[in-house]
Amino acid sequence: MFELQGLAEVVLKSMAEGVLVTDEDGKIVLANLAVERVFSVTEPEIKGKTIRLAIRNNEIADLAAEVIKTKKTVEREISIIFPVEADFLALASPVQREGGGVVCVLHDITQLRKLERFRSEFAANISHELKTPLTSIRNYVETLLAGALKDEKHNLEFLNKIEKHALNLSSLIEDILEISKLESRQQIGQFSRVDLAVVIDHAAETIAEKAKKKKIAIQKTCEKDAFLIQGLGDHIYRAILNLLDNAINYTNEGGRVEISCYRNDGQIIVNVKDSGIGITAEHLPRIFERFYRVDKARSRELGGTGLGLAIVKHVMNLHNGTVSAESKEGQGSTFTLTFPA
Ligand SMILES: Nc1ncnc2c1ncn2[C@@H]1O[C@H](COP(=O)(O)OP(=O)(O)OP(=O)(O)O)[C@@H](O)[C@H]1O
Ligand SMILES: [Mg+2]
Repeated sequence: MFELQGLAEVVLKSMAEGVLVTDEDGKIVLANLAVERVFSVTEPEIKGKTIRLAIRNNEIADLAAEVIKTKKTVEREISIIFPVEADFLALASPVQREGGGVVCVLHDITQLRKLERFRSEFAANISHELKTPLTSIRNYVETLLAGALKDEKHNLEFLNKIEKHALNLSSLIEDILEISKLESRQQIGQFSRVDLAVVIDHAAETIAEKAKKKKIAIQKTCEKDAFLIQGLGDHIYRAILNLLDNAINYTNEGGRVEISCYRNDGQIIVNVKDSGIGITAEHLPRIFERFYRVDKARSRELGGTGLGLAIVKHVMNLHNGTVSAESKEGQGSTFTLTFPA
């Protein structure tokens, strides 16, 4: 019996959920490690004190008081901002013994709430990004309808602008669909043998025309032996194409882009290096976030929406690999894909 009690206490103490028990007067009789950690207190210093006094949280104190009064279980979401910022689902029930008391379990839902906020921000960003080109298209159409259609000097220019914005819209929608596919891990197909050297050739061919227009030379150096991995060929192709596309977009005319593929410590590395404008240390950690662009106007002018690198990151996650970036302003950038052996 004693052993079992000891075990129950150890389990209670080490639970990931916070556990707080009070007697019928609302005075704390037990607080586990999670409670100690979240509220920056120790059990001995708060034992015998009321919740209000001990952890200075009115919401939890009210919850416990309500349970003592009604003898019914109550569930409530609670947000705290001190000593840490966190969200909890608190479940308080009457203790089943003479005299009563309350057992309150705090389930940490901070990550969940963060994810929800992230999702609604994403939706807001998407709407904003869709609206910008649509507004431009509508303005040009209105101007054409208002008479510019007969204006030989400008009508073609306006139509070209409409086409450009429509193309941007299409690629934005494609990127959003790609991201949701990768996130839900649905319809992404089966892993199969992928030869990275072939994929790199294919991506370099696709981008060759664009590179030529900017007089940028693309140099490929893939070590001789085959780079076979298990993966999703189409998605890896798109990831590499995104990196090459960025390398060309953010490098001035006459610059250089190098793509190389080699083995290191059993891992397979794909490097895309450019001699372009570079990225300052302040922006570098954020470029893989969705919709993040260092220079919004410049990127939009190039048809970019800031989803390219977010897609690359997702693709690498799916392959248990990583993507990283090194750069200095004005001194080019290097993006590295690492595939596990
Ligand atoms: N090689 C690079 N050199 C300099 N800046 C870069 C480079 N690659 C990415 N960036 C910066 O990181 C930002 C995010 O890149 P990302 O590819 O995600 O979006 P994008 O190129 O703007 O749009 P798109 O969705 O069409 O790819 C870019 O807007 C740019 O500011
Ligand atoms: Mg891009």
